[in-house]
Amino acid sequence: MTRIGTLYGIGVGPGDPELITLKAAAILHRVSVVFAASSTKNSHSLARNIASVHLRKGVPVEFLGFPMTKQKGMLEVAWRENAGRVLEVLKKGKDAAFITLGDPMTYSTFGYILQTIRETDPHVPIKIIPGITSYQAAAAAAGRVLAEAEESFTVVSGAMGAKRLEQIIDHTDNVVMLKVYKRFDEIMDTLNRLELGEKSVLISRCGLEDEEVSQVSQYAKKSHPPYLSLLIIKKRKR
Ligand SMILES: C[S@@+](CC[C@H](N)C(=O)[O-])C[C@H]1O[C@@H](n2cnc3c(N)ncnc32)[C@H](O)[C@@H]1O
Repeated sequence: MTRIGTLYGIGVGPGDPELITLKAAAILHRVSVVFAASSTKNSHSLARNIASVHLRKGVPVEFLGFPMTKQKGMLEVAWRENAGRVLEVLKKGKDAAFITLGDPMTYSTFGYILQTIRETDPHVPIKIIPGITSYQAAAAAAGRVLAEAEESFTVVSGAMGAKRLEQIIDHTDNVVMLKVYKRFDEIMDTLNRLELGEKSVLISRCGLEDEEVSQVSQYAKKSHPPYLSLLIIKKRKR
């Protein structure tokens, strides 16, 4: 019987090609096939570029489509198809990597692949290699401490606008908000209304040549930040 290959969920870091772990680089050098999600605007080619330096010559990189929809039925079909394709490769005895920008366990399409493969075939060997998240790199770029002493920090998505922020702001000391690009105006208005604009920084394309760090209160209204943007919001100004 052919052995089943191992699936590696690999975080390649947030953008700077040097922010990939030694372990991720070593595994990328060993695998026979690399998978990446193709739907998350630009980030997939960035993940591929970071990974490709570490691949052996000729190793195929395959993009899997994850539709940008909230329709559960459509999503589940895509997850099953994608997991099916990964399983097909693993069942030929090949080791494969699924690469993801930042960390694979943090807002990543890898989570869906992981869950669907576990449900389809719980015996498939899966190993997960963590990556430096976007917000860890952003905190370093902005020189902002995420939490110290007894403080808490909460990571939220801004995909639905400022709703999550309003729900948690009284219960936490610091907030990191990812996926802010679509509803940025609304989020900015809320931050200014809560008098947090001066204490919040927007970090865009962290680790890339055109990285930008701006204070939210000074960010020109209507200038839309790029997809790779996040906010660090602190109640305390430091
Ligand atoms: C689907 S999530 C991916 C998160 C990723 N897995 C991580 O560990 O950071 C996409 C969001 O991550 C944030 N992001 C990822 N890379 C970034 C970067 N280089 N600079 C700023 N934000 C980034 C942005 O908020 C973007 O909308």
